[in-house]
Amino acid sequence: MKLLVTGGAGFIGSNFIRYWLTNHPDDQIINYDLLTYAGNLENLADIAGNPNYSFVHADICDLTSVNRAMSTVDTVVHFAAESHVDRSITDPSSFVRTNVLGTQILLEAALKNDVKRFHHVSTDEVFGALSLETSEKFKESTNYNPRSPYSASKAGSDHLVRAYGVTYGLPITITNCSNNFGPYMFPEKFIPLAITNVLEGKKIPVYGDGLYVRDWLYVDDHCRAIDIVLQKGKVGETYLVGGMTELYPNIEIARKILKLLDKDESFIEFVKDRPGHDRKYDIDWTKIKTELGWEPKFSFDEWLEKTVLWYKRNEQWWKNIKSGEYKQYYTKQYGK
Ligand code: NAD
Ligand code: TYD
Repeated sequence: MKLLVTGGAGFIGSNFIRYWLTNHPDDQIINYDLLTYAGNLENLADIAGNPNYSFVHADICDLTSVNRAMSTVDTVVHFAAESHVDRSITDPSSFVRTNVLGTQILLEAALKNDVKRFHHVSTDEVFGALSLETSEKFKESTNYNPRSPYSASKAGSDHLVRAYGVTYGLPITITNCSNNFGPYMFPEKFIPLAITNVLEGKKIPVYGDGLYVRDWLYVDDHCRAIDIVLQKGKVGETYLVGGMTELYPNIEIARKILKLLDKDESFIEFVKDRPGHDRKYDIDWTKIKTELGWEPKFSFDEWLEKTVLWYKRNEQWWKNIKSGEYKQYYTKQYGK
């Protein structure tokens, strides 16, 4: 296979490229990435010299560049996006541009270049929020009800991908997954922000009452799910991908991180809540299990421990990030 991976310099995209070249060493990958604040070629330093890997520095909104990059591939795996909810609250327009317009431009080029599969990576946040009391989970049949500019822009992209499948016969598949965690995750998201803050002797900012729940998915489980959908998934279908079933509130995750780093609860600081904060996400991954044989392998506690260890061992990686533009972002978001 020859793959065009958009957003391959980000968190999940870089883990996916490493996963793919390890498991399919004869395949070729073009990583197409604009290198926004979230894109970092250091995530792929160990891959850069692989003859089956190449990098294109360009925007998914640039049709000419997209067409050029797509002319030699058979498969597109689309990760590129603005991905952080808090940033979408302060700057929604960049989310609409990249996530909606950028996706439509990729779809147009995929049609023109007759790609054999366009796989779109999306989020469970398009379904809105569950209440803490319910045992109901998100399913493929759940109605869309996005509540943040981020999730609204991802919902728009999902609809466009399906529309190109139905209207023009583009061979598409979609995965909507829950919150990923693992190495190379940008330290603006909760788990890496918490770990790196504590490593720097700072507190973990916990929004609101801390009783918000996410369905945590280890990034390698996610990469394997995309692999299985590309190999065995049915064209036109959507598959939901979630993690192991323990549903821990954010405050509990903060406590687990503190325990792993030998620190007490004085490192927790409750801060102002996020506007429109979704209470709970929880995914029913029965479809991908029964139809394609995928299930998550990695237990949350075991892989949280390994993730904490990765951030301890790769201090230079996150210190480089935290010393740049990130400083202004942090002050704007959290004060001092
Ligand atoms: P990320 O923010 O870490 O990386 C995004 C990448 O896209 C960066 O490398 C960035 O440079 C690139 N990019 C942004 N705008 C671009 C543009 N206009 N042209 C080309 N490249 C551009 O994101 P992530 O956490 O790795 O998420 C990847 C995908 O997975 C996104 O589509 C996101 O919506 C989805 N997703 C993420 C999670 C999660 O927990 N992180 C959960 C569900 C779904
Ligand atoms: P985040 O990693 O931003 O992912 P998402 O909003 O896409 O789920 O946040 C995960 C959870 O952690 C969410 O409930 C918001 C919360 N959170 C905090 O409590 N403090 C923080 O500093 C951040 C970034 C998030």
